[in-house]
Amino acid sequence: MDTEKIGAEEWDELQRNLEESIPVYDRINRFATLGQVSRWRRMVRDELPQNGRILEVGCGPGSFAEDVAGRNLVCLDPIPEMLRIAEARVGPKRAARGDSAVEFVEGTAEELPFEAGSFDAVCSLFSFRDWYDKRAGLAEVLRVLKPGGTLVIVDPAKMNRLHGILGWLWMRIWVGAYARLIFRRSDHPWRWLAKTYASFGTTRDYVKMLEEVGFVDVRAKVVFPGMATIWYASSP
Ligand SMILES: C[S@@+](CC[C@H](N)C(=O)[O-])C[C@H]1O[C@@H](n2cnc3c(N)ncnc32)[C@H](O)[C@@H]1O
Repeated sequence: MDTEKIGAEEWDELQRNLEESIPVYDRINRFATLGQVSRWRRMVRDELPQNGRILEVGCGPGSFAEDVAGRNLVCLDPIPEMLRIAEARVGPKRAARGDSAVEFVEGTAEELPFEAGSFDAVCSLFSFRDWYDKRAGLAEVLRVLKPGGTLVIVDPAKMNRLHGILGWLWMRIWVGAYARLIFRRSDHPWRWLAKTYASFGTTRDYVKMLEEVGFVDVRAKVVFPGMATIWYASSP
């Protein structure tokens, strides 16, 4: 089990499956998190500064971005179709609120296509565990943050190995049954989300990684054991 990296072939397969899950992404996510996902997204939103430029890494179909009101936001994802769907979903909502348009950018966390020190805050929701090189991605996030900038990440870390097995059973049996029902086939793409869940590390693993990469004031809050940990960190 590698808590830091995903091999190139596996990552390509994961991305294909994530793309296939777009039409049902929010539905299964709500089911898998017992409806708690909106509350966790709100917790991340509340940490973002009102002013300045904010980057969401791994925006997916815009599930988080659509409710980020009043902020200057850039959304990045490696899947063009995710960006297309996100733009169609987020654009009109922001226009109706009178918010500035979001910039949608294709790219990965590991090679952020931005200049050093160009963001006041970076967030990543349910994407960090999909990064193919988490340490390299965090180093890139640190590079693009301004001094004193904020990073907020949410993803389902486990507390220990036994807890990881229970979480995997939850994803595989309970959420898997629901996904099979929705996709009407057993080799449904959600299996890949269970896979990345299984290889993702513990809350502490990533506190340590954030500190080793050079972030300061690193803290983590286990919001729902096995389903949501929020990591907070600052650039020095
Ligand atoms: C499960 S979706 C999360 C969507 C959204 N942020 C949310 O709140 O639900 C994960 C997203 O992370 C993206 N992703 C995967 N690997 C990535 C990487 N190396 N760098 C940036 N984003 C990545 C995927 O393309 C996918 O759209």
